[in-house]
Amino acid sequence: MSEQPLYSVLRQGQGASAPQDLAVDVLVGLSEKPKRLPSRLFYDAQGSELFEAITDLDEYYLTRKEFEIFHNHGDELLAPVLNRPFNLVDLGAGDGRKTAVLLERLVAMGADVRYTPLDISESAMDNLVHKMNKRFPSLEIRGLVSEYFDGIRWLSTNSDRRNLVLFLGSNIGNFNKAQARGFLRRLWNALGQGDLALIGFDLKKDIDTLLAAYNDSKGVTRQFNLNLLQRLNDELGANFNLDNFRHYGTYNADAGAMESHLVSLTHQEVHIQALSATFTFEPWEPIHTEYSYKYLESDIDSLARFTGYDVLMRRFDSQRWFCDALWQVQKGGAIG
Ligand code: AVI
Repeated sequence: MSEQPLYSVLRQGQGASAPQDLAVDVLVGLSEKPKRLPSRLFYDAQGSELFEAITDLDEYYLTRKEFEIFHNHGDELLAPVLNRPFNLVDLGAGDGRKTAVLLERLVAMGADVRYTPLDISESAMDNLVHKMNKRFPSLEIRGLVSEYFDGIRWLSTNSDRRNLVLFLGSNIGNFNKAQARGFLRRLWNALGQGDLALIGFDLKKDIDTLLAAYNDSKGVTRQFNLNLLQRLNDELGANFNLDNFRHYGTYNADAGAMESHLVSLTHQEVHIQALSATFTFEPWEPIHTEYSYKYLESDIDSLARFTGYDVLMRRFDSQRWFCDALWQVQKGGAIG
């Protein structure tokens, strides 16, 4: 008996983490004043592991709250897709723990679902697909190793199923407001009329709660931030001394975002072999490494309207700290 492959590999464009892209990101970012590095660079193997550890921390409430929403409202959130076959398209699944809560319910309800995670990393995809296959042996799984929009466009033309796109865990919060609008418009463009998106938004709340979540007492977020410099040492032949930088997480009330920085503790020069360049740091000079935008409930609805979606449902945890919103693509009407 010939076995069906567990996942198909779609290759389009260049991997986002190709070494030359990394080098260019670093050259551009460290040449700016103030210096900055994009947060997508956090996620090498070690960074992804550290992020999983962050999601288990008491202070990092986001993951716990989204679990709570899925436990209490998962069936309601999924109800609108159950009337026909659909692809569950998972963007940025990570270790897939949150998606598993939804899949458990879908499998129990006998839904006609095909699980379609998308990831640019082949090894991350391999791990996820095998893990999900072990946990849900009867579930049809078709992973796509691809950039998000290439993968979604491929699905729109190669599958006649409806799509439900998951963008969970406040991943949208790592985009600034203009980038978030751009991302949602591109998603809208790649999807078809009536397709759905389930998006996790972290809400504005007591600033001390936010500060604790991004400055945890075990120092895991600090390690996660500093690991970015270790990655540049490993992959670009840089000579950052990690002891000469400190993690600084702060809330910018005007922007409505938690922001992470690595602050130079001393005057220092760092050479990066792959760039044949040396960068000078003055004492207390920061590198900006991450935005984590927080939303008002009203921001979520206006963002949907502005980018061409109807809001079908919004569900919250008991403290209203986090929101999962179910949106539906509306084509043919006025946008904006
Ligand atoms: C992946 N992302 C939604 C996380 C966040 O909360 O912005 C990454 C993170 N950064 C520090 N802690 C967690």
